[in-house]
Amino acid sequence: MKGIVLAGGSGTRLFPLTVATSKQLLAIYNKPLVYYPISTLMLSGIRDILIISTPTAVPVMRTLLGDGSRLGLNLSYAVQDEPRGIAEAFLIGADHIGGDSSALVLGDNVFHGAGFPDLLRGSRASLDGCTLFGYPVSDPERFGIGEVDATGKLVSLEEKPTRPRSNKAITGLYFYDNQVVDIAREIAPSPRGELEITDVNLEYLNQGRVRLVELSRGYKWFDCGTHDSLLAASQHVRFVEKYQGERVACLEEIAFRMGFIDAEACYRLGLELRQSDYGRHLTEIALDLAVPPAA
Ligand code: TTP
Repeated sequence: MKGIVLAGGSGTRLFPLTVATSKQLLAIYNKPLVYYPISTLMLSGIRDILIISTPTAVPVMRTLLGDGSRLGLNLSYAVQDEPRGIAEAFLIGADHIGGDSSALVLGDNVFHGAGFPDLLRGSRASLDGCTLFGYPVSDPERFGIGEVDATGKLVSLEEKPTRPRSNKAITGLYFYDNQVVDIAREIAPSPRGELEITDVNLEYLNQGRVRLVELSRGYKWFDCGTHDSLLAASQHVRFVEKYQGERVACLEEIAFRMGFIDAEACYRLGLELRQSDYGRHLTEIALDLAVPPAA
């Protein structure tokens, strides 16, 4: 499975924060926002990732993340020169996907929850067509909304409905089989001029090949498009890291725990950042986890 992080857009709701920088480079507590969606792909076991962003942000993302080899990843970059819609990711990313399945994650989506890695890997293994991830929200008019029947089967999908049939928002994480590229090539821009991801998902729904995985109790999802959601995500990460003693979206730690890099590499990455608490954490876990516990 290939990964795509779609991290372009205009970020107009965050002005003036995003006048001179990209939304996905803003901080969520102690690391750039784009780390979080990358961590979601890594936890799904994906190592080959295309990052799509604006002409000005791509060089900065490349400075931040490089070619990914330090994390045991293969990162590549592509430009979306105008925000022509989320589904355009599959046109820009067609060569990257090749004959494989794909996972698309939006660059401003933060997911966190116990058991998330297992849920991701299970969803990946059972993919048949398209898998969407739903999350209950209090303001469904603002989101793509999915309605399920009594058996949990997805029966309708609507983009920003005025009369929502449920409160299940379709989050910015999508798993697809290889047909997605052909479907994205077929859809036409919506009245707002965008290639809508909901139109892609509706095609899978018409074919009866969509599954909705519900992220409910125990999960947090932040769509960091507003000042309040940026702050709420930061506060959540701070709480988890400070009081629960667990790191969220620490890419080097995930690479180490997933077996993409070894303890020595993790230690070296930590040393480079040792002035920060983030870097010291990496050297500590590299030492702790590298030494087998005494019998
Ligand atoms: P949005 O939040 O819908 O749009 P935006 O980021 O441009 O922000 P605003 O509405 O405040 O102007 O986009 C959701 C995510 O998808 C975000 O990470 C940006 C990304 N995106 C693209 O990269 N390209 C696109 O064409 C679109 C529509 C979104």
